[in-house]
Amino acid sequence: MKEKRITTTAVSWLFACVLISAGPCRAEGAPAHAVASAHPLATAAGVEILQEGGNAFDAAVAVSAALGVVEPFSSGFGGGGFWLVHRAADGKQVMIDGRETAPALAHERMYRDAQDNVIRDASLKGPLAAGIPGMPAGLVHLAEEYGRLPLRQSLAPAIRYAEQGFKVTSRYHRLSAYVADTLRQYPAAAGIFLQDGKPPRIGHLVRQEALAKTIEAIAEKGLDGFYRGPIAERMVREARKHGGIWSLQDLDAYRVVEREPVVFSYRDTRIVSAPPPSSGGIVMAQALSILEQFDLNDMSNVQRKHHIIEAMRRAFRDRSVFLGDPDFVNVPTDRLLDESYLEGLALTIDAANATPSDILGNGPTLLQVGTQTTHFSVLDKEGNRAAGTLSVNTLFGACFVAEGTGVLFNNEMDDFSAKRNTPNAYGLIGDEANAIAPGKRPLSSMTPTFLETPDRVGIVGTPGGSRIISMVMLAALDFADGGLPQSWVSLRRFHHQYQPDQVQFELHGLTKFERQRLAGMGHELREISRRYGNMQAILWDKTEDRVYSASDPRGEGQAVVVE
Ligand code: DON
Repeated sequence: MKEKRITTTAVSWLFACVLISAGPCRAEGAPAHAVASAHPLATAAGVEILQEGGNAFDAAVAVSAALGVVEPFSSGFGGGGFWLVHRAADGKQVMIDGRETAPALAHERMYRDAQDNVIRDASLKGPLAAGIPGMPAGLVHLAEEYGRLPLRQSLAPAIRYAEQGFKVTSRYHRLSAYVADTLRQYPAAAGIFLQDGKPPRIGHLVRQEALAKTIEAIAEKGLDGFYRGPIAERMVREARKHGGIWSLQDLDAYRVVEREPVVFSYRDTRIVSAPPPSSGGIVMAQALSILEQFDLNDMSNVQRKHHIIEAMRRAFRDRSVFLGDPDFVNVPTDRLLDESYLEGLALTIDAANATPSDILGNGPTLLQVGTQTTHFSVLDKEGNRAAGTLSVNTLFGACFVAEGTGVLFNNEMDDFSAKRNTPNAYGLIGDEANAIAPGKRPLSSMTPTFLETPDRVGIVGTPGGSRIISMVMLAALDFADGGLPQSWVSLRRFHHQYQPDQVQFELHGLTKFERQRLAGMGHELREISRRYGNMQAILWDKTEDRVYSASDPRGEGQAVVVE
């Protein structure tokens, strides 16, 4: 059983640690702090808090909150996220699940018309598209359970950025232009994020006074500042006025969940990643375990990519059938990660030809035999780490702001399967396991991940919808080959997600020669948007006693190492 091997790996790891240190697994200090995030102001917020004596978790609160202010198109207090944490003192590793939940009035057919057709915009625009936010609860939990500083101190940079404003960059300008029409439908959102109804000019100051007050309320009152009282009442009233279904009870009932990470090994690397309701850890564990059956380093580039694509295809197939919120459906993790099952899947890969996704089927029979969203990574000198992937889903989420609160609503409800085998915004299909139900969390692809060997620790993650998983997986392969963060974030990217049955790749993601050869093997190829992903990564190399960090050249982020 794969699961057993996983536990054994974890145990032998601890055992090695005990042997080496001849005592309980002592926390090892890193030679430097490091922060990598998608925005320079958020990175600065993290560094500020570390320099004030905060630990990596206080810094994670500061960076998350700041990202929610200065990258409103990516994440925010009206959204959610996953924070993977490693506490050096006792080696505890856990994922804080601050994913949005479906409101109590949500139901399986809520985004379908009378003919049972999915109404595309209904799960994407306006407050009906929004799940109950988990971001504020995630930050309160991180600060209370893992941080050292008061929440008020860690939230101070975000409050400052909201009050004093941040400057529009070319990226903000470009992204706001994509959704300006939708933002204009909701004047409270347009008033904040556009300038006279148009995408703001570069350098324009975006001030969010109401949001500053909302964050202050969280700083003062914790959960009560957001999930109960005047701000909650205002959000519910505004949501209802515009066709939403949130209730005060929904907000009051929101809880973060601490979940055990998915832990597995690929060659010498121990990989700690996001469990359901993220699909990231399981899909990556399946794909990498399939790949472990082959000697990738002995293959030509084309063969290597063909095998990676075929492994992704098979893992994403299982995602579409089996994965969903583990509090609602029984995710058969043991069977999905079972060694013989994955060996069987590896055997179905034809070295010379693409396997059409259709012939893999989409029923459970196989098992019976056998640019939005954001990320940051933090490491402190005590060896604590956090990897956070945060989201409002697509650009500016639902494009709806509850007037007077500054809270921009997510449109994470689109991550549910609105109808069996009907693709969502990322072309992903799903089944019963990811059907909408009150209180349920939509299946996610967000994959904050730690990569570990006795000598090296990597902290990594990225936005990118379904492609998050393949990006993190390509970084994990590069880590296993000895690559550095600068290389992981710069890798040329390609992806397969079972359906649609095509190899997606970014501009220059595959060379002309590789495209010709892969097409010759029967792969349908599709170049998508010029570039995708915005990876933020840190590496602590213990043999060199050195910390590296890198921010994706595709974005405008900043990575720093503070010695
Ligand atoms: O949770 C998920 O999988 C999505 N809501 C993430 C969205 C995303 O990464 C958008 N990025 N371009």
